Amino acid sequence: MGTKITWLGHSTFQIESAGKTILLDPFFTGNPSASISASEATADAIIVSHGHGDHVGDTVEIAKRTHALVIANYEIIEWMGKQGVENVHPQHIGGAHKYDFGTVKLTIAHHGSMLPDGSNGGSPCGILLKLEEGTIYFAADTGLFSDMRLIGEEGVDLAILPIGDNFTMGPDDSIKATKMIAPKRVMPMHYNTWPLIEQDAAAWADQIRNQTSAEPVVLEPGDSFQL
Ligand code: NI
Ligand code: MN
Repeated sequence: MGTKITWLGHSTFQIESAGKTILLDPFFTGNPSASISASEATADAIIVSHGHGDHVGDTVEIAKRTHALVIANYEIIEWMGKQGVENVHPQHIGGAHKYDFGTVKLTIAHHGSMLPDGSNGGSPCGILLKLEEGTIYFAADTGLFSDMRLIGEEGVDLAILPIGDNFTMGPDDSIKATKMIAPKRVMPMHYNTWPLIEQDAAAWADQIRNQTSAEPVVLEPGDSFQL
């Protein structure tokens, strides 16, 4: 069947696996790199890494329209309930839960998580997705941390890492992260959305090839990749 991963721009990914569609951090409205609009998005499940507007994005609207299950940390799920989102599942850091599409484990991330209205969004998270065809580690917004080595021990087929710098890891730290995680493949995100986080993905890919054992996968927004 295969697992299809589509980059929809910034940190937004659509993952099709086991007949289900999963959206990660669905940010379309106000996202200059979005390859589709919020009204075109479909989902069976939406996973939100942290409370910032460029990650919560259009979750409330899409969840209400599609009745997709929203998965996030406890604080974000409480907030979703206040926005009228009813189909939810709270988790928290270190905890895994098995869904019909695979298992989701929330991991640490070093960042902030304030929600768009100033509410407390709890601790920011990374997402470890164990699917039929492999394991994806979506680091979300984070700086480099040495416990990435422990996440790598779970056997990561694809790591999705921020490279934009300024708010998250930049290219150099993402190389160090790749060495610690030792994934089969690594994909960059959270760059080129705005001038502040512009990066040369081709130069980054060369560094990955020269310095790590991982294969770089660089997509354009709207492009897909088969795991
Ligand atoms: Ni953020
Ligand atoms: Mn962000």
